[in-house]
Order: sequence, then C-alpha cells, then structure tokens
Amino acid sequence: MSDIWRKPMLKGTIAVASDKSITHRAIMFSSLAQGQSIISNPLMGDDNISTCKAFQAMGVDVQLVHNAIIINSPGVDGLREAEDVLDFGNSGTTTRLMLGILSGLPLFSVITGDQYLRKRPMMRVIDPLRQMGARIDGRDGGRLLPASVRGGDLQGITYHSPVASAQVKSALVLAGIFARGTTVVSEPEISRDHTERMLPFYGVGVKVEGKTVSVTGGQRFEPRNMEVPGDISSAAFFLVAASVVPGSQVTLSNVGINPTRTGVLDILQQMGADIRLENQRLVCGEPVCDIVITHAPLEAAHIFGEMVPRLIDEIPALAVAMCFARGKSIVKDAKELRVKETDRIVTTLANLKALGVEVEEYEDGFAVTGNPDFQLPSGVTLDSYGDHRIGMSAYLFSLLQRNIIVDGMECVSVSFPNFQKFLAQLQRGGDQ
Ligand code: S3P
Repeated sequence: MSDIWRKPMLKGTIAVASDKSITHRAIMFSSLAQGQSIISNPLMGDDNISTCKAFQAMGVDVQLVHNAIIINSPGVDGLREAEDVLDFGNSGTTTRLMLGILSGLPLFSVITGDQYLRKRPMMRVIDPLRQMGARIDGRDGGRLLPASVRGGDLQGITYHSPVASAQVKSALVLAGIFARGTTVVSEPEISRDHTERMLPFYGVGVKVEGKTVSVTGGQRFEPRNMEVPGDISSAAFFLVAASVVPGSQVTLSNVGINPTRTGVLDILQQMGADIRLENQRLVCGEPVCDIVITHAPLEAAHIFGEMVPRLIDEIPALAVAMCFARGKSIVKDAKELRVKETDRIVTTLANLKALGVEVEEYEDGFAVTGNPDFQLPSGVTLDSYGDHRIGMSAYLFSLLQRNIIVDGMECVSVSFPNFQKFLAQLQRGGDQ
C-alpha cells in the first residue's frame, strides 16, 4: 500500500438531514390537531423520536413509516395523562416546547432527560409559565429537570424575554394558545421563527410585529400535511467541508433558507466562500433552495450582535472554517453557547487546542487565529464530548489529515444519523 495520503476532495450532490426544528413542531402541532396529519421527509433523529414518544404516551397514534410520520390524534381534548415519566433524552427543544404545551393541558406530567439535558437551564421557560399560572416544580426550585407539570387554567401575559431564544418564545406562544386572553412575547433579537410561520399553516392565528409575537387563547389546531426541508444546521458541516477541502464542489439539495437561520451563509460569504443558491422556492411556508458550494480561500470572520441567533448552532462548524481562514476570527455576544448540549465555547476550543490552533476564550465567545496553510498534526484524538454538533465539527478535520479520530461519534444520531456515510459518499465523488 502506498504511504502517500491524498486529501480526498468532496464532489457530488446530497440531500442533507431534514430540519430538526421544523420536524419537532410538525409532530407537536399534528398531535394537537384532531384527525390525520402526514409529515413528509421528517428528521427521524433521536431528538424527534423523543417528541413522537411523548405524544404516543399521551394517546396519540404516531407511526414512523418510510420517509414519513403519520399522526392520528384524538385532538387536544382526547389527550390523556402519560402513565410514566416522559424522557426527552438529549432534546432541549422537546423539553422547552413541551413545557409550554403541558402547562396548557389539564394533565399531570413528569419529565426528565439524559445527563446533558438535566444540566440545562429550564427557569427561562418555567418562570414565565408560572407567571401564566402553570404549576411546575423541579429540581433546584425548578431550574433543572426532572420537573413536574400540573397544567391548565392559564392566563395570558406580556413577557419580555431576556434571551433571544426560539425555545422560550415558542413555549410561551404554545401555552398562550391554551390560556385565557392574549399572550405577548418579545425578545431582544429575532430568533428562528418556525413556530410563528407554522402555526397559521396548522390553523392557529398569530400576530408578528418586529420582535414581538402575540397569540389569542382558545384557538384550535387543524390537521395538515407538511413537507420538511433539509436542515441548514446540518448543511453547515458540508458548507464548511467543501470550503476547506481543496478541489471540492458539492450541491446540497432542498435546504431550508429561512432568513432567521441563514447567518451561516452570510458569514461564509463574508469570509470569501463560493456559495450559490439555486432553484429558490417556498415549501409549506418555508423558503427552500439548492446550495452549490465550491472550495475557495477564506478570510477571518467577525460574528456578534443580532447575527448570533441566526447561526447559534453553526458556530462550532464555523470555528473549523476559521482555522483555515487568513487572520483572527472573533465570536462575541454568544454566551448562549455555554448552555447548549455542552458548553460549546469550552468543547469547541478543547478540540482546536488539541490540534495546536491558537485560540482565546471569552466569557461570551472566542477567537481563533487561522492560517490557510495550516498543516494539521497527524495522530490526534478529538472528542464529541457527547454533543452531536461538536462531534460533526471535529470530524471535518479528519477530511484533511489522516489519523485524526473523533471519539463518541454515536451522538450524531440526535440530528444527523448518516452523517459520516454522506461525507464518505462525497469523498467518492458520487451522487445519491
Ligand atoms: C431551537 C432553538 C435554538 C437552537 C436549538 C433548536 C428550536 O435554541 O439552538 O438547536 O428548534 O427552537 P434556543 O431557543 O435555546 O436558542
């Protein structure tokens, strides 16, 4: 066998994993509507399965078939108390949005999650839900899971969220649908708006004015058939991979480009990435396109302010691009990274440091000094730290240097079950 190792360029077309955020909401809204709803092209990652199981436990018929989820629900009035604890696994979105829904239903529920979820802050939703009248208790006064919810009898509130969080906004809007009066939620910057876009599609009216969303209680969900686009957060790994591996050109088909999610495209383009959006269209109220990305030299990036919520989940992948960009990249205003599946400032930098990259840690971000000629060391073991996006980001380095191994890649099943297979397919230059 030859000892010469060539970096395999990435070539071809793939459809990346379906959108996790949209799939969660489609399962929830379909389960709250009486009748049959079909979700086509859903993500069947572990997190979404947690959402399915929650509604199954409450008496909804949720069937996972080939590339679809078929939901037959008795509707809100027919939901029953789950007999056992609801285990949301690793899923923050399931937990926060279900806290909103469970608060509105006249049922008693107990919820928990895995070792990572049980460390994540819940007061950001539990505090305003208590203000609406929800009886929620939990570990450390309600700051942490496990938690119990005795729902029903809510009153709408006006709430200014101190964080730009779609999970907080969505939890309160969902609770507001079951509350008396009107619920008004505003946030400091606009976070992803799938809830506001999808609720009208499922028959629930909402009013959006800038950074404020209002909903009137007493509305009913209607069953619908929904098609889920590809997840731009999953596409991000391939956007970075094709940008940094010389000779690459990749087409990512059917990717959601909701403007509240496309910060990764804006930043990569500012860095000099060669990205083309083709075939732009609207599918079930969400903008979608095919993305063509070609290898190009990159410059340093500056990420701060209102850009942060538009790419919060893509920062670990962007940190990989920063290693190969000319100059010092800086991420600020991103303290939220510290309360994701892991502290993503710490875990991102731990892997970069293991590779000898010059980094600085800030309270609300980090800096990476990149180099287009960066020669990765061989024989390094990186770690997912049990966090899917950290694992997939670290894995990108293995495309550029042999003997870079990432421990704990099994956690990618949370959002992208076939991630490594898709990369290998592009390395072989094959289309799907
Ligand atoms: C999500 C919102 C974001 C994001 C998460 C999914 C959602 O979290 O990081 O992966 O689907 O609403 P925050 O609301 O905590 O910012």
